[in-house]
Amino acid sequence: MKIGILTGGGDCPGLNAVIRSAVRTATDHYKWEVVGFLNGYKGLVENKTRPLDSRAVSGLLARGGTMIGTSNVDNPYAFKEIINGSRVTHDVSDRVVKTYEANGLDGLIIIGGDGTLATALKLYKEKGLNIVGVPKTIDNDLSATDYTFGFDTAVNIVTEAVDRIKTTAESHDRAMVVEVMGRDTGWIALHSGLASGAHIIVIPEIPYDIEKIAEKIYERKSKGKHFSVVLVSEGAKPLGGNITVKRLVDDPSNAVRLGGVGNVLADQIEALTKIETRVVTLGHVQRGGKPSAFDRILCTRLGVEAVNMVANKEFGKMACLKTPFIKSVPLEESAHNRKVDPSDQMIGEARASGISFGD
Ligand code: F6P
Repeated sequence: MKIGILTGGGDCPGLNAVIRSAVRTATDHYKWEVVGFLNGYKGLVENKTRPLDSRAVSGLLARGGTMIGTSNVDNPYAFKEIINGSRVTHDVSDRVVKTYEANGLDGLIIIGGDGTLATALKLYKEKGLNIVGVPKTIDNDLSATDYTFGFDTAVNIVTEAVDRIKTTAESHDRAMVVEVMGRDTGWIALHSGLASGAHIIVIPEIPYDIEKIAEKIYERKSKGKHFSVVLVSEGAKPLGGNITVKRLVDDPSNAVRLGGVGNVLADQIEALTKIETRVVTLGHVQRGGKPSAFDRILCTRLGVEAVNMVANKEFGKMACLKTPFIKSVPLEESAHNRKVDPSDQMIGEARASGISFGD
């Protein structure tokens, strides 16, 4: 047997750990051959590969990024290339089938977020490829799995950053606004806010009222606490207002690039409270570096089970965590977006412990 592996979408701590365990399971346990496709779907369209064996994946468990590269712009159904000097966007999914056949594959493991997995589903359904998915994202916004890998690492990175920011905020009697990723969900902000003891957490699911944020800062001042940390998710918006967008991305999905709400909020806080306010945008730091112990374990388990799914011919499905088990669910479920429920027990507990959500 021979299988392929591909990583698509934004990188995420733990991708290498999944590759490592999948390759070891396939080569050492099943005695199969494995090939990695380079730079996401681009490698599959252009047949750019590298062989992967146990030795090639040595030392990957703790390494961030992905050793086979990734891309969040290359979609075989709307592929961009220059032909005769002009830029065209067209369906090259037949080239994917050719690559699959040319490599003599019995299965293909695709590790990616909702966009990558939606394409994987199409290739399975429309082209009949033997695909198994593995969901990844630091955003933790896929309902099919208890946790996506990369999320725990991102939460740990933000928590450590806020711990450090708190001490400088306290020294200067400042308000510090920390902007984190998460797209249109507030999982990273909520979990790291609880872990770091942020004073105000602003998430997309609970539109904020700047007056309420100011109230919390005043309340802290009245108790002799002259500094405050506001943790804001990039997709947050004011009551009756809109998200803050950097720009439209020039890709087929016309996705928006979020960012900047931290600056908006900081300006509003300073104008209203007259307290000196600074902004820290953590950005891609949240996606870089070594995965946490939790993510390493999750990734190792997902890699093994994805290969077992190929062995059991469970195609058109993805591996996911249903604590304490790794299970398989239809790839369709990767499209179900999970948001923070404002009436969730955890939100109530955060409020009870003194955290404001700016509402
Ligand atoms: O989905 C993961 C994520 O990091 C989001 O939290 C963020 O909005 C987006 O990707 C950033 O994407 P890019 O790396 O293309 O800027």
